[in-house]
This record gives sequence, C-alpha cells and structure tokens, in this order.
Amino acid sequence: MPVITNILDLKRLHERRVPRMFYDYAESGSWTEQTFRENTSDFAQIRLRQKVAVDMSGRSTKGQMIGQDVAMPVALAPVGLTGMQHADGEMKAARAAEDFGVPFTLSTMSINSIEDVAEATTKPFWFQLYTMTDEDYVRRLIQRAKDAKCSALVITLDLQLLGQRHKDLKNGLSAPPKLTPKTIANLATKWAWGIEMLGARRRNFGNIVGHVQGISDTAALGAWTAEQFDLTLDWNKIGKLMEQWGGKVILKGILDPEDAKMAVKLGADAIVVSNHGGRQLDGALSSIRMLRPILDAVGGETEVFLDSGIRSGQDVLKALAMGANGTMIGRSFIYGLGAMGQKGVTTALQIIQKELDMTMALCGETNVNNLGRHNLLVPEGFEGTWQQD
Ligand code: GLV
Repeated sequence: MPVITNILDLKRLHERRVPRMFYDYAESGSWTEQTFRENTSDFAQIRLRQKVAVDMSGRSTKGQMIGQDVAMPVALAPVGLTGMQHADGEMKAARAAEDFGVPFTLSTMSINSIEDVAEATTKPFWFQLYTMTDEDYVRRLIQRAKDAKCSALVITLDLQLLGQRHKDLKNGLSAPPKLTPKTIANLATKWAWGIEMLGARRRNFGNIVGHVQGISDTAALGAWTAEQFDLTLDWNKIGKLMEQWGGKVILKGILDPEDAKMAVKLGADAIVVSNHGGRQLDGALSSIRMLRPILDAVGGETEVFLDSGIRSGQDVLKALAMGANGTMIGRSFIYGLGAMGQKGVTTALQIIQKELDMTMALCGETNVNNLGRHNLLVPEGFEGTWQQD
C-alpha cells in the first residue's frame, strides 16, 4: 500500500479500484467542464498570510454547523450512487463521519436507503431531498427521513433536470452496471470491488426501487431524473416542503445573491453556495468566487456553507476565512471511499483536518472560529467585473 499523504493519493487509488463508469460519474462536470475546473483553480488563486511568533499551542478545529457541534466545519455532501463506489458505501461513509464528528448527508439518489443508514449509525444524519412530480412519494420520503430522526433536510435547488455529463452517456451509467462487452471488460479488472459488491446490502437506488412507480428504467439515473423530477419546483413549493418537514432546513445550490435573499426570506437555517461540483450549469462562476457577494447579500441572517472545489484543508480554511460558516466535501470523501471503504473516508477526513490545523497555525491562528479575511490575500477583482442589467 502506498503512503497516503493527501487527497489526490486517494483519488489515484479510487481510479484504480472502482469500475470506470462510477469513477467517471464522480469525476465529471457538465458539458465543457469549465465550471468543474474553475472550482479548484479559483481556490488556488487565493493566497494565505503567514504570521509568525504566535503561540501555537492549544489549537482547535471544532465549530458548529446549524447548532450541531462538529469536529471541524466540514460536512459530507450528498453524493448520488455512493454505494457503487464501494459496497454499502453510504453506511460506511456515515459511520466514518459519525466516528469523526462531522455531519453526513444522505442523497435521495443513494444506493443504501434512509433506513439502512439509520440502522448503521447512532446519531442523526442529514437527508438530501430531490423533489419529484409524485407528491405522494415525496411526502412519504420526508416522513421516512423524519422516522429515521434525520436532523436536517437539505433541499437541492440546482438539479430539476440533470446536467449533461458526456462520460455518463458514453459509459451507459446505471446501478447496477448493465453487462455490455465494454463494462464486462472493465469489471474484469476490478475484482476486489466486485467481490465486495456481491455481499452488499443493495445494488440499486435504495430510496427509489420499491417506493416509486412509473419509471421506465430504475437502474438508469438519467431515465428516472428525466421522468420523475419536478420541473415546476419554485420558491412557493420550496416553502411548502419546508413546512412539511418542520425541522432544520439547508437550501443547497445557491449561486446568486438574489436567490440567497429569497432563501433567507423563507427562513432557511443555512444555505449552501454551490454549483453542484460543476455538474449542472457549465459556465457558472466557481462557488468560492460567488461566496463574498452572497455573504454580503445575506448579511449574517442565515448560515452560509460552501461546497464545490474543496480538495484540502487549505481550501476549507480559505472558505472559512472568506466568511463561510462551514463547508461540504463531495469528491474528497468519495475518493477515500472508493480507495479503501470506511477507512478511506476516515483517512480523507484526517488529511483535511491535519491540513486545516497546520495551515491555521502557520497563519497565526489557533481556533478556526477566529479565521477571517485578515488571513487571506485575495487577488484584486477576484469576483470579476461583469456587465449586469
Ligand atoms: C446528482 O446529484 C448528480 O450530480 O449526479
């Protein structure tokens, strides 16, 4: 086993171990992948201010997200098909998150069901909701999340239709994989993955199969999003879903200051500044570039989290210092899961915490809650000057 020192090491192992169609699913952005690329390259533009001769003892990365204590302000983001990256992937990632002390978010498009994850954990997790045209199904899904004692509903707003990711179409992405000559040839090189997958609790969409009718192909993500997702979702409907849930709500996929203000008006407990990891609107600005205008728009009236592009503790630090109350990671933990299952997710979290802790110290800070813009060097015009009507 190679020495693992950073998230990209886990990514390399993930690529080697997991069937191509699932690695590609995680590693894709939509269309030209411009936004996907800029999510990471824009983080790299921000520099850190080194401060010396500061007592570095007694450091802490602990914080809070929507009132919950966290070992560091980094939650696991909802990621579709996580249970195809590793057998029982959602159960394993949720356990790793619980042991580490950070929130886990289960995707509607998960392989393990809400109930599987509730059984595998002892503390509440967050549930991410996609809204479907079948209102009765949505009502039951919300009730299932309540019964599982989920402590927040994360409503994703930027995926009423699925962005086109070329590789998924070319690979014929499905769960379980359809056995074409191409997939068989690839699966033949992924023995360890396959053997574990034979023992998995589920190999299809656990929140969907057996719970919703009228999908032509339950295995194909593209088919069921196109047939089921509610194209008519608007602020009014979002308000109704929030009422139905009645608990803490995080609105995810906000990239525009006016939308952020609407989320505040509706009473969201937090918003996630996100472009869905560059998987939806290609050509949108990166989340880190949009963070400051959105923070200015909400003026502290709701918590603001950021995802899309975080691959290190340094990136977490940059988002927090810019003013975010917390962050979410998707691919960074998926690489770990694909590479080594639960242990890999723990490794990813450890890497990020160590990077965050050491970088914070070298910036002259001992507590993540004290990070601020004074720790950053942000290029002039970072947010860009754009013509606006
Ligand atoms: C689903 O959330 C996806 O981005 O594929």
